[in-house]
Amino acid sequence: KQFENILVEQSDRVAVITLHRPKALNALSSGMEKEVVEAVEGLDSDPGVGCIVITGSEKAFAAGADIKEMKDKSYPGIYLERYFGDWKRLTAARTPIIAAVSGFALGGGCELAMMCDMIIAGDNAKFGQPEITLGVIPGMGGSQRLTRAVGKAKAMDLCLTGRQMDADEAECSGLVARVVPAADLLDETMKVAGTIASMSKTTAIAAKQAVNRSFETTLEEGLLAEQNAFYALFATEDQTEGMSAFAEKRKPEWRR
Ligand code: HXC
Repeated sequence: KQFENILVEQSDRVAVITLHRPKALNALSSGMEKEVVEAVEGLDSDPGVGCIVITGSEKAFAAGADIKEMKDKSYPGIYLERYFGDWKRLTAARTPIIAAVSGFALGGGCELAMMCDMIIAGDNAKFGQPEITLGVIPGMGGSQRLTRAVGKAKAMDLCLTGRQMDADEAECSGLVARVVPAADLLDETMKVAGTIASMSKTTAIAAKQAVNRSFETTLEEGLLAEQNAFYALFATEDQTEGMSAFAEKRKPEWRR
């Protein structure tokens, strides 16, 4: 399918969604929101896709929501249209999603990256929540996901001053899983995505769900959910296959 604001490619079991509005540093428009969400939902329902990568350009993952599109909106208008409310659908995907971030990930761009399961950053990446400089605050989860990722001190710093955090600071703070040289970002991310996609998809879904549960519940409830999911995986052929393959010193062939 042809999209206007994104490119979608698929190879083996990995799909790559590239945000593509180069003239606006990939600013997130409503049109782009629709397309990304549609693409993710399509890929998520394809059992042949084991991992999704979302990336941007070298200069910008995304420089935020499209300020020119937002500028003249009114309160009743955005309330009624539930402006940018569909991004939430991305977080309902069960397939693991990696954000590969080069350059600016600001405002909604940072928030989109944080909706993904893991962020891999080029060493040129810049993260920030500059909404306050526009007279607003984060609206796609920044105040919540950033705080959960990096804690109150850094989240307050970023949300109140609008300053940018570089890749190293983002990694030290726990926002980013890995930092790689910018020139190698896509190669390195594809290796990680390939590794994830080579696992049993059933098991990968269970792992993603278990980690995500920890953000929603108490330790006791989370541990119970994890234990039940662990037990449930013993009903899958992939558990039998994975453990047999280990004992037989061969590679597992997942039923998935
Ligand atoms: C619309 C944008 C844009 C944005 C950049 N552009 N960011 N257009 N919305 N968020 C456009 C510029 O207007 C310009 O268009 C072109 O992209 C290149 O940008 P420059 O500013 O010329 O580039 P540079 O000088 O390198 O500066 C890069 C930058 C700066 C530091 C990233 O562009 C910037 O500050 N952008 C805005 C960042 C921001 O405030 N984001 C938060 C948005 S609010 P022309 O036509 O002039 O060439 C938000 C809320 C989310 O995200 C919640 C929603 C519910």
